[in-house]
Amino acid sequence: MDTLRRPLIAGNWKMNLDHLQSIAFVQKLAWALKDANYQANEVEIGVFPPFTDLRSVQTLINADSLPFALGAQDLSMHDEGAHTGDISGAFLRALECEYVITGHSERRADHGETDEVVAAKTHAAIKHALVPIICVGESAEDLELHGASKVPCDQLRVVLASLAPTDTYVVAYEPIWAIGSGQAATSSQAQDVARALRDVIRELHGDSAADSTRILYGGSVKSGNIAGFMKKDDVDGALVGGASLSVDEFSAIARFPQHVTLDQEN
Ligand code: 13P
Repeated sequence: MDTLRRPLIAGNWKMNLDHLQSIAFVQKLAWALKDANYQANEVEIGVFPPFTDLRSVQTLINADSLPFALGAQDLSMHDEGAHTGDISGAFLRALECEYVITGHSERRADHGETDEVVAAKTHAAIKHALVPIICVGESAEDLELHGASKVPCDQLRVVLASLAPTDTYVVAYEPIWAIGSGQAATSSQAQDVARALRDVIRELHGDSAADSTRILYGGSVKSGNIAGFMKKDDVDGALVGGASLSVDEFSAIARFPQHVTLDQEN
């Protein structure tokens, strides 16, 4: 974590919590963080509910001035028109979403999204004034064949080619083998790939983009391992799946600066 980059703790709820459950969850999360004296200027928190919850969560965030950024889990590469079931970035922006996830490995696997599709969606996000969180990551097989950095760096290159150096984006390194497995990467593995991804940004978009872009780690992040990741120079936050569905866990992750374990390696 570099002090120039404000850490981002993003909760990707995936296909969990309906709109009623989302309201109860966000209220409880806000209370838990307030009780724990969460400092919004130190750490940014983002919530990424399913599409059907976005309006409810947006209304709650606005009504109670909650310190949460809102994001969506996907968007269409198209602006509007005959694309049944798809959601335009323009609609997300109208709901005051700030972020949108692109290229999550579950969308690549479930919907056959190629690097080119991810690049088009990421371009659409920027066009609609959303900050894309570009997900990259290798499978267990890739790891064995090529090492950890090659596949994520290749994926990122394709997406960055569709963006301008001045565009604002976030990159999330999510090794597929670590997602939902309970077996997170070590903090050193995460740091090595985050550094390699930052080098790709530097090569394609220059020093200013490389120094200001936040790179997150995702894959079995919990309150017990977040401090180790955040100690690393090139890791600027986390994209959290399962643990983002627990108020206690997610609020503890977001309060990582207070963890007594900050000095421990994991
Ligand atoms: P888990 O935290 O459940 O491993 O999921 C990570 C993830 O895919 C976040 O996008």
